[in-house]
Amino acid sequence: MNEGERLTELAKRRGFYFPSASAYGGASGFWTYGPQGAALKSNVEDAWRDRYVVKEGHQEISAPTVMPEPVFEASGHLDGFDDMIIECGECGATHRADHVVEDNTDVEEAESLPNEEVMDLIAEHGIECPSCGASLAGEPVENFNLMFETNIGPGSSSPGYLRPETAQGIFVEFPQLSEYARNQLPFGVAQIGKAYRNEISPRKSLVRVREFTQAELEHFVDPEEDEPPLAEVADVTLPLYSAESQQADDGGQRDLTVREAVDEGVVASDWVAYYLGVSKRWYERIGVDMDRFRYRQHLAGERAHYASDCWDAESEVDGDWIEITGFAYRGDYDLSKHAEHSGEDFTVFKQYDEPITVERATVDPDMSYLGPEFGGDAQRVADALEALAERDPSAFDADEVTVEIDGEDYAVPVEQTNFSVDEVTESGEHVRPHVVEPSFGVGRIIYTVLAHAYETDEVDGEERTYLSLPPEQAPTTVGVFPLMDKDGMDDLAREIAGDLRSAGLSVTYDDSGAIGRRYRRQDEVGTPYCVTVDYEALEDDTVTVRERDTTEQKRLPVDGLAETLEQLNTG
Ligand code: GAP
Repeated sequence: MNEGERLTELAKRRGFYFPSASAYGGASGFWTYGPQGAALKSNVEDAWRDRYVVKEGHQEISAPTVMPEPVFEASGHLDGFDDMIIECGECGATHRADHVVEDNTDVEEAESLPNEEVMDLIAEHGIECPSCGASLAGEPVENFNLMFETNIGPGSSSPGYLRPETAQGIFVEFPQLSEYARNQLPFGVAQIGKAYRNEISPRKSLVRVREFTQAELEHFVDPEEDEPPLAEVADVTLPLYSAESQQADDGGQRDLTVREAVDEGVVASDWVAYYLGVSKRWYERIGVDMDRFRYRQHLAGERAHYASDCWDAESEVDGDWIEITGFAYRGDYDLSKHAEHSGEDFTVFKQYDEPITVERATVDPDMSYLGPEFGGDAQRVADALEALAERDPSAFDADEVTVEIDGEDYAVPVEQTNFSVDEVTESGEHVRPHVVEPSFGVGRIIYTVLAHAYETDEVDGEERTYLSLPPEQAPTTVGVFPLMDKDGMDDLAREIAGDLRSAGLSVTYDDSGAIGRRYRRQDEVGTPYCVTVDYEALEDDTVTVRERDTTEQKRLPVDGLAETLEQLNTG
């Protein structure tokens, strides 16, 4: 078994996660988190909330998972959120065309290539169908939209889609959210919630699924004025694998501090660099092994339709690098698109300290002149003249001014435009914020944390498996056991378990089987401490506390046990 398979075996056996609805044969790409997994997931989400909402001073919202079609027309997902699909002519199985190329050649990131090139690579390398072994040469590579479609209400007149990213639920509410932020940039809005993608080939348990949880932050900033608090993370070392170094022959990772990465221009956006620094510390806190972690920049052809720069946090499992988080500079793409499609105002009004007087160029075209001469385009010509006056008043210095509509030039005598320049007083201006987005996949982070925590050693001549999870993330903090289920040890153990629960610790009570077996069960779910109540405890009110990784045991007083464990827990 490889690392991933070993992990999934443990995950099913111990209740971290398992395929969903298996009584009915299930559907691939859907997983249920069991009791241990749900607890771990909520610990990871709490740690995320603590860092990216509370500590950053941002707000959190919870938007619907189904949204109407116009949202995704505007966001570009309806047209462009596609993967490359190839269908086997022999058995009818469908596959991600870029994946079959990556799996069978040394081409990396095949998704950044045009479909025809991927088809050529498939033919050139004689790539076979992973399901039946027939040749895939000559089969067309097509685009497949990843969104799940549904109907809102009866009938089909109101199509909706399950959101493919939580982000759109934030962008569409920008007008309200900016009001709540009192129109003061910068501000950030976060969301933890489900996202859905109809993946062509789900794989590697939680790594590529059809329903998953994202934790996303959309940080709205004034591109002209706002700067991140870089000093807070300036000395964090980032393992950077830039687009340039990926393409160079001697390409490889460079370890640069956040400050160096910004000064050398390796990370172009200070905001992205800031979040790479914040996040490196956060991954360490939740148990990602820093020797199996890097930041990789997207190549130009690989970037999503909305991003001008993007870095992925990647973790290594089984020799493969998995994208666990995307850090994108989305610019004003989303807010501009939603403004354009909805007609609403997606800007922030920035009040000046003092009103200012400016010269404003305006036009008032003579429509009777534009009418017959310009046919149906008259209004569009008038609008274009207005935009031109605002953008470049010097264009009106000549006798004639020319505007272009759908590739055709229209010349208008300046006299007919009633061009004028007036002095106006302005109290502020409309600013379209730019968006910096760290977008975390919670399931992939859980998979990474579990894989990196998976350890084996030998205890009492037997192989032992344990998860060396950071205590803050462990699903259970303490296992409480009576040495034997009798003579008052059971009563005292139950009492201690109750007290620890009241103190807010997550406790598992276990009285079944030999004590060694009970330790092993807790080791396998990463419980950092086990408390055993033995005969001595009945006499002197002390218990043994065993530490998971070292298996060392200490006798500690029952009195104050919750506080002692909490101190051990937080280090
Ligand atoms: N809003 C930006 C966005 O959605 P993305 O890179 O497509 O960006 C962000 O997704 C994160 O969501 C990824 O880094 C990954 O961790 C997670 N993710 C994406 N697709 C996934 C899938 N099919 N299964 C599990 N996690 C996925």
